[in-house]
Amino acid sequence: MSLSPVEQLKRQAAERAGALVRSGMKLGLGTGSTAAHFVDCLGEKVRDGLDVVCVPTSERTRLQAEGWAIRLTTLDEIPELDLTVDGADEFDPALRMIKGGGGALLREKIVAASSKRMVVITDPSKEVARLGKFKLPVEADLFGLTATAHKIARAAKAHGCSGPVVLRKTTSGERFLTDGGNAIFDCDFGSIPDADALAAALNAIPGVIEHGLFIGMATAVIIADPAGIRVLG
Ligand code: 5RP
Repeated sequence: MSLSPVEQLKRQAAERAGALVRSGMKLGLGTGSTAAHFVDCLGEKVRDGLDVVCVPTSERTRLQAEGWAIRLTTLDEIPELDLTVDGADEFDPALRMIKGGGGALLREKIVAASSKRMVVITDPSKEVARLGKFKLPVEADLFGLTATAHKIARAAKAHGCSGPVVLRKTTSGERFLTDGGNAIFDCDFGSIPDADALAAALNAIPGVIEHGLFIGMATAVIIADPAGIRVLG
């Protein structure tokens, strides 16, 4: 199957991350089209004898990994992982990220926080000087969604951000639900002047289960550029 130029870049980043994997490792598997390339790379290695055990960050990734007969486990069985490889919607020079475009941010954050290393794989389109070009996903409990949306907007305003807080819908117009059964708001804040402060403010809102700001989590970002691979971190 021939890949488009951007998919080729994602595949190259995934292959570079695949080179970090050794038999015996406990891995976190991210979600999204870039992370899916990593699962494919890993699946090929497992087929050739690599012995790893993995925690998937979504049902989608779990199904893909099962298709490759990759051995799966849970964080209840193995609470600390060696390495998580995941994609991102955006990253800045300090390796802060926005994630959750695929709706898996809660499990992605739990798995990344349970890993000694988190390596992010990406094409260059995700690189920004300052976070906020991508709408910030915020996962919320279904109870009191409108009240939670107001609180998110207020907290954002207090930290120099404003813009619509919109409930995510599926392509058929129904409310999007995460694997955990929660809703997602996509917050069109534009450039975020202080991501650390906004993250703390969102964490303090009852009803917000998790937000897509991943700060201090990525240990490296592998960027597959048409000119070659770059590694930050
Ligand atoms: C899913 C994510 C993904 O990693 C992010 O959306 C990037 O996806 P893709 O590699 O398809 O661009 O955070 O929740």
